[in-house]
Amino acid sequence: MPSLFFSSRYNDIFFSAVNPTLEKDYVFLKANQLSERLCSLKTQALTIAELGFGFGVNAALSFVAAQKVDRLSRLRYFSVDEAFPTPLEIARLSGLMRESCGMYTQLWNSIAIQREALSQNHIFSLLSKESSQLFQGDVIDFMDYLATQCINEISKVDIWYFDGFSPAKNPAMWSSTLFQSAFRLTKVGGTFSTYTAAGWVKRNLENAGFVVQKVKGFGTKRDMLVGKRPV
Ligand SMILES: C[S@@+](CC[C@H](N)C(=O)[O-])C[C@H]1O[C@@H](n2cnc3c(N)ncnc32)[C@H](O)[C@@H]1O
Repeated sequence: MPSLFFSSRYNDIFFSAVNPTLEKDYVFLKANQLSERLCSLKTQALTIAELGFGFGVNAALSFVAAQKVDRLSRLRYFSVDEAFPTPLEIARLSGLMRESCGMYTQLWNSIAIQREALSQNHIFSLLSKESSQLFQGDVIDFMDYLATQCINEISKVDIWYFDGFSPAKNPAMWSSTLFQSAFRLTKVGGTFSTYTAAGWVKRNLENAGFVVQKVKGFGTKRDMLVGKRPV
């Protein structure tokens, strides 16, 4: 069955059309122990950076996870995308968002209002939080912008979601230069996950300094990658 959530530009699907929330939860939230890490926060914040906002599924799930343990105000979320789905596509996905549907709708309504009011803008706040932003533009420019938001160890990234389509179809989202920038912006002990297990992506991550591990992928997928900044 062809997926409704398909990019003709990259010739790739956004996520499994059967159960996008379970897939994203497994590959990104659970793989980085998001709920446990949110629970163990004392006074500090936790920063997530995502490459590829897409439909905002990861963002909605992460905000719901933080809300559940009363840490919404402590979650900083930065993401980037060069393009947005259409209102029709956004509406189509809402039926598959299950318990995160309210958060998903709230996110997209607020982005729509900001786009209408500030047509020249390319940085949108997520959930009206100054510390959570969606950058519209290319990933390279986003990394420069992110550096201005991660100016010291405490404000660096705790968790990366690398979610930029298949590496074979979109190598620019998996380059060694990009991972070197990501590594510099990661806290010591900070982690990442991604659904891909491509050998050259693993090597680019390792060359940047991350310790990388192959683990079981979602559903029928054999492997995916997780990792950590050791020092
Ligand atoms: C698999 S989708 C992301 C799914 C998303 N994380 C979600 O939860 O819905 C990959 C996204 O990466 C974006 N993308 C691809 N190349 C990019 C680039 N060079 N700069 C910025 N965004 C890019 C695409 O527009 C697409 O929305």
